[in-house]
Amino acid sequence: MRSSPSFIAFSLLFIALLPSIQAHAPINAHFKSLSPFSSALETLQKQLGYTFKKIGLLRRAMTHASFSEENNKALAVLGGSVIETAVSFKLLSKDIDVSASELNKMVSRVSNVESSCAVDGTRLSLHKVVRVAPNTNASAPSVVCGAFRAIFGGIAIDTGNSDDAGSVFWNLHGDLLGNALSM
Ligand SMILES: *[C@@H]1O[C@H](CO)[C@@H](O)[C@H](O)[C@H]1NC(C)=O
Repeated sequence: MRSSPSFIAFSLLFIALLPSIQAHAPINAHFKSLSPFSSALETLQKQLGYTFKKIGLLRRAMTHASFSEENNKALAVLGGSVIETAVSFKLLSKDIDVSASELNKMVSRVSNVESSCAVDGTRLSLHKVVRVAPNTNASAPSVVCGAFRAIFGGIAIDTGNSDDAGSVFWNLHGDLLGNALSM
């Protein structure tokens, strides 16, 4: 018999402590799961004033096509039309006699990549959140704008209607249309 009494005592102590060692493991796992990207998504939801039921939609919205096959391109198409619909709806509700050319001008101003869309996106610091390939500039207007639009596409899919997405857009963007109307 090689097992000394102290070895047996140590083994028993280890077995006795094992449950408490294991009890700490899930806590560590939880800290690990909050990656910088995940906590950036938490912050972004607070800025938006909208909490996603399916957070995967916001993950996708914040993923540029250069980063992965699963990306925000199609959500950005939907988000772009959510924004255009929201703007047209608001302008026509205010003034049913607005001319088609005036309406087109306003819509293209609000959805303009350089002057409006990327400005809104940069204000939300999306260039710091969106995932891109190493050789892609996350601050490029097209990248920021695509991510910004994709947010509203994501909200529309998350809620099952585009009106809620339009409301979130107005909460973020409300002041700019006011400026455009006074021009
Ligand atoms: C990335 O794009 C921004 C915005 O267009 C620009 O100001 C910046 O110089 C670019 N950075 C690089 C490394 O090209």
